[in-house]
Amino acid sequence: MRKKVILITGANGEVGHGLITHIANANRSGILALDIKELDSSLQPMVKRAIVGDILDNRLLEYLMSEYEISAIYHLAALLSTRAEFTPEAAHKVNVQGTINLLHLAIEQSRWQGNAVKFIFPSSIAVFGVPDLKTKAAIPPVTEDLYNMPITMYGCNKLYCEHLGRYYAAHYRQLAATPEPYGVDFRCLRFPGLISAHTIPSGGTSDFVPEMLHAAAQGKPYASFVRPDAIIPFMVMPDAIKSLLMLSETPRENLSRLIYNVTSFSVSAEAVGQIVKTAFPTTSITYNVDDKRQGIVDSWPAEMDDSRARQDWSWQPDYDQRRSFEEYLIPTLRKHYGHWVI
Ligand code: SER
Repeated sequence: MRKKVILITGANGEVGHGLITHIANANRSGILALDIKELDSSLQPMVKRAIVGDILDNRLLEYLMSEYEISAIYHLAALLSTRAEFTPEAAHKVNVQGTINLLHLAIEQSRWQGNAVKFIFPSSIAVFGVPDLKTKAAIPPVTEDLYNMPITMYGCNKLYCEHLGRYYAAHYRQLAATPEPYGVDFRCLRFPGLISAHTIPSGGTSDFVPEMLHAAAQGKPYASFVRPDAIIPFMVMPDAIKSLLMLSETPRENLSRLIYNVTSFSVSAEAVGQIVKTAFPTTSITYNVDDKRQGIVDSWPAEMDDSRARQDWSWQPDYDQRRSFEEYLIPTLRKHYGHWVI
């Protein structure tokens, strides 16, 4: 008999850490963790099985199909925006072909199980591309369908994968003699920059905030790769996990769309620098601007409009800016890097 699981790809990444910990604590169904790297030992006891493998490996995906009954897929694996610019074609393979492979697995599972398998896909603020800083300063918080003109490979990949999800949900093989009876229950969130007190991201362009915080909490100096006035929206990891689970648990009929913005607060590098200096006074924050990464941040909107998520599934973040820093980030970082408590 096939074993019933929730599949999490990219399980060893930042969101994977938060999601696995939350699902395991809530005692939900067994997790099948898949990552190109070995799952951290702290997470191993929380999952039914951890597989080290590549989402581009079709034989591995066939094996998953034959061994498991997958009730939901959280497809988190991706190469982030800065990393992807160094090897755009390789990023395209992982981000797009990898997603098609997982959508294909989901549709096969749906056909076999006799209902649409949930496919939860984190997209990103990177799908937006505002043309210039003047526009960025002038526009209201952006809704889902505006400024979809990404300037990064990662942003293009995420935007296209949103469309693939829509296609696999309702139009897959629409001209075939036997049309797909179930489709995939595709649900997508567009995240702003994410900040975790437990893990440091790698390869993203919103990394200047988490990097600044983690450096300061260790008493290390930090040179920001963006200007002090660089501003984008952020959200702390507990809210990111909350939004993934809320979207996943909302009855399908309450969802008026497949793709939802979610956000919490918008903050500039300089404002974070000040908060960080107050909390960890021995730190030093300087600015050593990387024009190319700055250009990416400049192309992302200063604020996202998440009113659709608020309307359809009562989304609201638990942590606004004050709570994020005062009640989550700073105390948790202090505990984490304990020797720097002042
Ligand atoms: N955090 C991501 C990045 O910087 C954006 O979704 O690439």
